[in-house]
Amino acid sequence: MWGGRFAEGPSAVMREINASIPFDKRMWRQDIAASKAHATMLGAQGIVAADDVAAILAGLDQVAADYERGGPADDLALEDIHMQTEARLTDKIGAAAGRLHTARSRNDQVATDFRLWVRDAIDEVLGALDSLQDALLARAEQHAGDVMPGFTHLQSAQPVTLGHHLMAYHAMVARDASRFADARARMNRCPLGAAALAGTGFPIDRDATAAALGFDGPTANSLDSVSDRDFAIDYLASAAQCALHLSRLAEEFVLWASQPFGFVALSDQWSTGSSIMPQKRNPDAAELVRGHSGRILGCQMALMVTMKGLPLAYSKDMQDDKPPVFEAHDLLGLSIAAMTGMIESATFRTDRMRAVADAGFATATDLADWLVREAGLPFREAHHVTGRAVARAEALGRKLEAMPLAELTAIDARIDARVFDVLSIDASVASRRSFGGTAPDRVREAIAAGRALREKR
Ligand code: ARG
Repeated sequence: MWGGRFAEGPSAVMREINASIPFDKRMWRQDIAASKAHATMLGAQGIVAADDVAAILAGLDQVAADYERGGPADDLALEDIHMQTEARLTDKIGAAAGRLHTARSRNDQVATDFRLWVRDAIDEVLGALDSLQDALLARAEQHAGDVMPGFTHLQSAQPVTLGHHLMAYHAMVARDASRFADARARMNRCPLGAAALAGTGFPIDRDATAAALGFDGPTANSLDSVSDRDFAIDYLASAAQCALHLSRLAEEFVLWASQPFGFVALSDQWSTGSSIMPQKRNPDAAELVRGHSGRILGCQMALMVTMKGLPLAYSKDMQDDKPPVFEAHDLLGLSIAAMTGMIESATFRTDRMRAVADAGFATATDLADWLVREAGLPFREAHHVTGRAVARAEALGRKLEAMPLAELTAIDARIDARVFDVLSIDASVASRRSFGGTAPDRVREAIAAGRALREKR
């Protein structure tokens, strides 16, 4: 396609290092769509004759039908999906195929194809995140009133509900979805028509090609159009943040599925056995979600480092933009689906969660708050009195709510029997009624708000 000024062909290694077809063939649908939009515009503008345009469009449909059957061939000599599609088109319709590349370069072609691909990828992710949110909402609703220990420093802190804990992840996933949606809105401009870097002298209509491909309009600057990969980095940044959230949830599943925690039993479908230890049920899927997040974060870094030293406009380094995006997308798709499946099918051991919540003096803050509210102590003093009560309860081997009143009044005479109303874990949870708090009614409100948000999209 560009051999006119060359006397010799490339070396075998040159061919291999230069070719992107092994991975960019994934964009064949976008490549065909962009070529059809371009050809149609060339016809409408009188740049290419109508019969040639008709032949090109019909030929592209035939090429697409071939690709649909077997996929584009791994033909390294044809470098990339753009040259392969043009070569296949030439096979189909002959010389007229050579008119398709009028007023276009592979530089604006690849920028357009890749944007289209990333846009489709975002739509896929948004669909998957909807399912994940649905799963979290359903399980949160089921467990809106089930008490579990809330942790700070992974030490029992205050009781919360399992529904509240799951809704924390729902909040993260909702932000992830909004980040992907933002990235989609920002990238939805069409670089086609920037040509190699400077624009073109042909009377093209960039608004027409942009509209035909579902973009909001053309990109503004031809140099930026062919050298901008922000859209891919935005995608990867959104993916990295999402993967980070999935990894934290996965980590909790791994911890919770362990014998010392015993908070969750993963279903058989999402567990694996050991080849030597017959009793084992390992949370491999959760571990792999946690592991994949590292690779996804690496993909973002890989592309940013590739881009950071490039002068304007196109450099071949930019061909390395696709593998990290494709890899991250595949890993993220698997991770979201696996997490959704694990959440849907897990059995939460609410009895065990409750017992642990009940054992760790998790209502000590409620005692301190009661001393402030009912006995007028400054919080710092209440904190100190409560600390002594906890130490005494620990020495007696009792829960706070099972302490004899005399033991408590011996520590501070201002304590009276009403204190027992606030010392159970259920009372504690029910009292956390501030907006965004863990009281079961608040959790149900949050679930309703999450559902309403979901319906709006
Ligand atoms: N395969 C190339 C890529 O993915 C297409 C653009 C080639 N442009 C060029 N001037 N060699 O970036």
